Amino acid sequence: MAHSLLILNGPNLNMLGLRQPEIYGTTTLPEVEAMAVAHGAKKGVNIECRQTNHEGALVDWIHEARGTQDGIILNAGAYTHTSIALMDALIAAEVPAIELHLSNVHAREDFRHTSYIAKVCVGQICGFGAAGYTLAIDAMLATLEAQS
Ligand code: DQA
Repeated sequence: MAHSLLILNGPNLNMLGLRQPEIYGTTTLPEVEAMAVAHGAKKGVNIECRQTNHEGALVDWIHEARGTQDGIILNAGAYTHTSIALMDALIAAEVPAIELHLSNVHAREDFRHTSYIAKVCVGQICGFGAAGYTLAIDAMLATLEAQS
C-alpha cells in the first residue's frame, strides 16, 4: 500500500511569499504544498497538507495522524521554540516525524536555537527554503524504508 504523509504548517506560514521574503523566500504556501503533492505523486506517496495558526489545532491533527498516517512533516513555526504540547502530541501519536524549517534557525536569534520537538523527531531539516519540503518527503521515505 502507498504511504501517506501529513505535512503540517503552523503559525504565520500562510503568509509565505509575503512575509520576510529575504528569509523565507517568495514561494507561497499553496505553491509549496503543490510542489510537495507533485513530489509525492512521483514517489507514489499520498501527501496531505494542512496549515493553521492555532497550537491546539496542530495538537488535534497530530493525534488524528495516529494509525492513519505513516509520517508527519512538521513546520511548527514559532511553536517549535515554545510548545511542550506539540512535543507531547508527537509522543502520543507514535508516528515518525521530521522537524522542518525553511530558514536555518541555528544561524538566527538564540531563541530559535531551542526546539521542544527536536527530541521527539527522527531529524531536522532547515535552511533549504521551499526545497526543504521535498527533502523532508525523501527523508521520511528513507526512514520508513529502513524501518520496514
Ligand atoms: C520557521 C522558523 C521559525 O523560527 C519561525 O518562527 C517561523 C518559520 C521556518 O520555517 O524557518 O515561523 O519555522
